[in-house]
Amino acid sequence: MSDNVLVMDHPLIQHKISLLRDKNTGAKEFRELISEVTMLMCYESLRDLPLKEVEIETPIAVAKTKVLAERHLAFIPILRAGLGMVEGVVNMVPTARVGHIGLYRDPKTLQPVEYFCKLPVDISEGDVIILDPMLATGGTAIDAINSVKKYNPRTIKIMCVIASKQAIEALTKAHPDVKIYCAVKDAKLNENSYIVPGLGDAGDRIFGTK
Ligand code: URA
Repeated sequence: MSDNVLVMDHPLIQHKISLLRDKNTGAKEFRELISEVTMLMCYESLRDLPLKEVEIETPIAVAKTKVLAERHLAFIPILRAGLGMVEGVVNMVPTARVGHIGLYRDPKTLQPVEYFCKLPVDISEGDVIILDPMLATGGTAIDAINSVKKYNPRTIKIMCVIASKQAIEALTKAHPDVKIYCAVKDAKLNENSYIVPGLGDAGDRIFGTK
């Protein structure tokens, strides 16, 4: 597998993925699980965050210790299912900014149409993590990264819950500089481009719209 992809197969994550896959898991539990998986995934995907040394007085002595260096970190959920991952990441990094991007493919021209894009103003000085729980064909993620790249962030990563083999190949080819963090890789897509076995429509399951 390409060095650009990190599959986070921690037992806690795998257990929660099984609950997410279960069609009997309702919207409330599904939302909570997506948040929990996202929080656990933050652990690896933010491993390279820079630190700075500070002095803190403990009740016993002065300690030289480390805190996160100020750095512009932005999470950008792809509408709509990416919204389900926001709570998890802001729980982990409350100072991070959150941008939003919404796009779809025009069925006639097959060109991406961006219908919403609101990104933090200082994105060009910062690191971006794009959020989308399901990478099926990879097309939307590729288009979202193309849009975000216009603002020249320092680095771009993408975090998803399930990625298809096809999406990983397409994304790695289109954006070899973007590291992909996923919890699990599924082998194939069905005729409607749903991931098999997947977990169904993540947006519908998060927002209870089906
Ligand atoms: N989006 C989803 O929510 N589920 C899939 O299986 C594919 C795309």
